[in-house]
Amino acid sequence: MFQSIWSAILISICLLALDEDFHQAWATLLQEDDSCPLVWTQANEGHWLPTRSAIIEEVLTDYTRFSSRSIILPKSHSADHGLLPTTIDPPEHHFYRKTLNHTMAPASVNAMGDDIRAIVTSLIDGFIDKGSCNFTRDFADILPIRVFLSMMDLPEDDIPQTKYWTDQLIRPDGTITFADALQNLKDYIAPYVDQRMGSDGTDMLSRMINTETNGRRLSRDEAIKLSIQVFIAGVDTVVNLLGFVFLFLAKSEKHRSQISQGETSAAQAVEEILRRFPIVTVAREVTEDMEFHGVQLKAGDMVAAPTPLAGMDNTFTPNAMAVEFGRKQGNSLTFGRGAHTCPGKNLARVELRIALEEWLKRIPNFHVDESSTVSFSSGIVGVVNELNLRW
Ligand code: HEM
Repeated sequence: MFQSIWSAILISICLLALDEDFHQAWATLLQEDDSCPLVWTQANEGHWLPTRSAIIEEVLTDYTRFSSRSIILPKSHSADHGLLPTTIDPPEHHFYRKTLNHTMAPASVNAMGDDIRAIVTSLIDGFIDKGSCNFTRDFADILPIRVFLSMMDLPEDDIPQTKYWTDQLIRPDGTITFADALQNLKDYIAPYVDQRMGSDGTDMLSRMINTETNGRRLSRDEAIKLSIQVFIAGVDTVVNLLGFVFLFLAKSEKHRSQISQGETSAAQAVEEILRRFPIVTVAREVTEDMEFHGVQLKAGDMVAAPTPLAGMDNTFTPNAMAVEFGRKQGNSLTFGRGAHTCPGKNLARVELRIALEEWLKRIPNFHVDESSTVSFSSGIVGVVNELNLRW
């Protein structure tokens, strides 16, 4: 009874609110008290949803009870995934993570700053004089993939094809199966992996696949799976976070001027925006029957970890819905928590910071084009479908 009432309410509220605002749709699940710590929905073959930041954190960190062997909803799609290191639990996961951490350490990412700034300014140059742009198509869709291909030293001409396959893995439109999109990406990266294995190249791909960790290196198959996971995880997240950041700023003159007038640094603004607008919802598979916060979970059940909800939880951040630049930051769940915490968080922060600095320097005032509508999609990554801006 408890479950079915909640699933009906959940689905109808979320569908109604999603048209209006992605985060507002998640906020409908927030509770005034702790009477309903987890809700059940039949959506996506059925799964649980924690309604509190602290429980989401517990799900993400307790890998013995909540395994990453299935992280996609519906669970039946997880079988096709099999990428590294996302679907491996500790202790096997440590080997892959050390390799990634080494490759994506802050020093290597900061060294990319000038290249990222050059990409950002050249994109803005392309439309600034028009007084308007399709922000999604002209900026957000391009910046992260150009940064990524440049770091990996892969040809920019490959952008349209690789983006199509990556998009199909995250929000398929039915034109290709998940398995085919994944295979195409593997076939795409394989020759580059072959060419660079054993080389002393300084690009991110060469460094990643040639790093020796605990006395061993990645096999060819592992190198392909790891490279593709970084590709998938590193592009779409930044694309969509940019959408949410610029949508928020387009609607708030106060916050725009705080950054452009130097009252707050772009770096501080990025932290608060990341805290308030998380976009990733991965899931975990329950490993054993157990009682969890008063709810009976069964081995094999799926539990989602909706980080968007965590960003709006007053029990984690006082007055959580308000965006207050410069406020003291806790350790938000935007980049996950525990063994799988995002290794690309340094890169994401640098991309967002430089995008804000350069944009607001040149376009301090902008708004959403009134002749367009903004809509959202949900999934592993929350999406601003299209954002049109004017200045
Ligand atoms: C704002 C942008 C980003 C957000 C919000 C984000 C968020 C996340 C989250 C929540 C996870 C944890 C998944 C889990 O627990 O299963 C994760 C993992 C991951 N992210 Fe990010 N990410 C972003 C950018 C990036 C970038 C730029 C890269 C790389 C270039 C990247 C690479 C990865 C990888 C490889 C993993 C898997 C780590 C593992 O399984 O150990 N991410 N990300």
